[in-house]
Amino acid sequence: MAAIKSAIPSRRFDAVIVGAGGSGMRASLQLAEAGLNVAVLSKVFPTRSHTVAAQGGIGASLGNMSEDNWFWHMFDTVKGGDYLGDQDAIEFMCREAPKVVYELEHFGMPFDRNADGTIYQRPFGGHTANFGEKPVQRACAAADRTGHALLHTLYQRNVRARTHFFVEWMAIDLIRDADGDVLGVVALEMETGEVMMLEAKTTIFATGGAGRIFAASTNAFINTGDGMGMAARAGLPLQDMEFWQFHPTGVSGAGVLITEGVRGEGGILINSQGERFMERYAPTLKDLAPRDFVSRSMDQEIKEGRGCGPNKDHVLLDLRHIGADTIQKRLPSILEIGHKFANVDATKEPIPVVPTIHYQMGGIPTNIHGQVVTTKNGVNEVVNGLYAIGECACVSVHGANRLGTNSLLDLIVFGRAAGNHVVASNLKTRSNKELPKDAADLALSRLSKLENSTGTERVQDVANAIRSTMQQYCGVFRTDDLLQTGLGKIMELDERRKHVSFKDKSKVFNTARVEALELDNLIETAKATITSANARKESRGAHAHRDYEKRDDENWMKHTLWYSEGNRLDYKPVVTKPLTVETFQPKARTF
Ligand code: FUM
Repeated sequence: MAAIKSAIPSRRFDAVIVGAGGSGMRASLQLAEAGLNVAVLSKVFPTRSHTVAAQGGIGASLGNMSEDNWFWHMFDTVKGGDYLGDQDAIEFMCREAPKVVYELEHFGMPFDRNADGTIYQRPFGGHTANFGEKPVQRACAAADRTGHALLHTLYQRNVRARTHFFVEWMAIDLIRDADGDVLGVVALEMETGEVMMLEAKTTIFATGGAGRIFAASTNAFINTGDGMGMAARAGLPLQDMEFWQFHPTGVSGAGVLITEGVRGEGGILINSQGERFMERYAPTLKDLAPRDFVSRSMDQEIKEGRGCGPNKDHVLLDLRHIGADTIQKRLPSILEIGHKFANVDATKEPIPVVPTIHYQMGGIPTNIHGQVVTTKNGVNEVVNGLYAIGECACVSVHGANRLGTNSLLDLIVFGRAAGNHVVASNLKTRSNKELPKDAADLALSRLSKLENSTGTERVQDVANAIRSTMQQYCGVFRTDDLLQTGLGKIMELDERRKHVSFKDKSKVFNTARVEALELDNLIETAKATITSANARKESRGAHAHRDYEKRDDENWMKHTLWYSEGNRLDYKPVVTKPLTVETFQPKARTF
């Protein structure tokens, strides 16, 4: 259909940021404080963004509890990511970490304190002193509500800086011109159904992950991969989407996160024989080995019949020995989650837990400034006007498996870096580029197709089928058979998705429209994930392949690039050269 520009309203900004979580609000703060006219769109009230669910801490080598430094943090991040992370970006992140944490402290973030007034830091999985020698306390914590404290701090600073929030607005698609430049987004106001073009000299995606492509997930319902869907429909690649992290401790049957901070404070995992089984799998780090390692060990215990409960389908997280006082002081939300979701008093009984989908290591490829990059014939090219930060982006600092606490760090380091880069590009001195005539065509045609569909598929049936298929065929352990079968099923669901319609067209709620638009994003992310996973014939980090048990650096130390058109794959090299230090050469991962 031919869109008529004047048919829908349009507003102009220097910058539009899609997503009001930690990375979006860190970037918007930088821009608004520099005097730029910045709009932030969010499907939910900003302080309800998924960052609010981050519990255990933000990683930074402050050294408040014992000696620490950024180089050890860098080593842990490279090794934790099974050598797929780009070492230039990892060096940048780990060096920046102390600075950005102190900045948050100065913004008023209510961190827990040591007796001497410094920020309290707890141990977390895979964080070590002296290149793996022993665990180190690096996670800067605000009880077990670190994400909550962070989001509220950033929101208040943004209000002060006069950031313009569009609350309960969903971005539908990017606006690109014939040069490929990004000129803003077309968005929907969820309450009124109004569609608007938000023109911008710079557009920043901070839309979070797509954890809702799996049935059992620690992710919020809003995490439907919107940024990835929009990027894929605009012809941009998605990088390393086969790597999905299972968090070892989701409440069994409920999926709700139990922070790794519990094990940081001394909690242990036990099997049906009461054995602390992680001592066998990871003799040095034990329960605090990286997440991919712990999740696979738990799965192994369950598979070998040492699972707990009537169905022997989970293990137990025991924190009774930590003591009620420490639990109430350091882990108050865990007490509450134990009560509400597992019906246990965690001071007296262990909590039933299973590995649960938590985080995507892949996303929209970017450089360390947050600029989106494409790769043609081995050469990286920046997409003018488009940035991506946070979980929707792949910088790549997490490689094949993220370390706990590096997600909040990634949000703040790269949100800030993108903000600085945009400010340095002198947007004020440039005017908005003229929109092409077909600026809103893609978004409007999707909406119009939905309204006029004569199909018989229900949105939630297709969405649920995507989730159960991904869970069953692309889980903790993968095989060629599983992935091949799952890929076929996801491609069938892609066809079914094209025939969704509303049951009673005279009574369609905007929330139903939003769910239908989200479905298009879920399917793009699911296709990217299972297609990339099916192609990678090795085991690395979170991609554990039963038919190829070993890591294969010779053939597979490379990043995957997936394109929606033709469901096509390409690859690009890992950046093994850091900014200023020597490369960490790949080694076997033992803990
Ligand atoms: O376990 C947690 O508190 C989660 C932290 C993270 O994913 O970084």
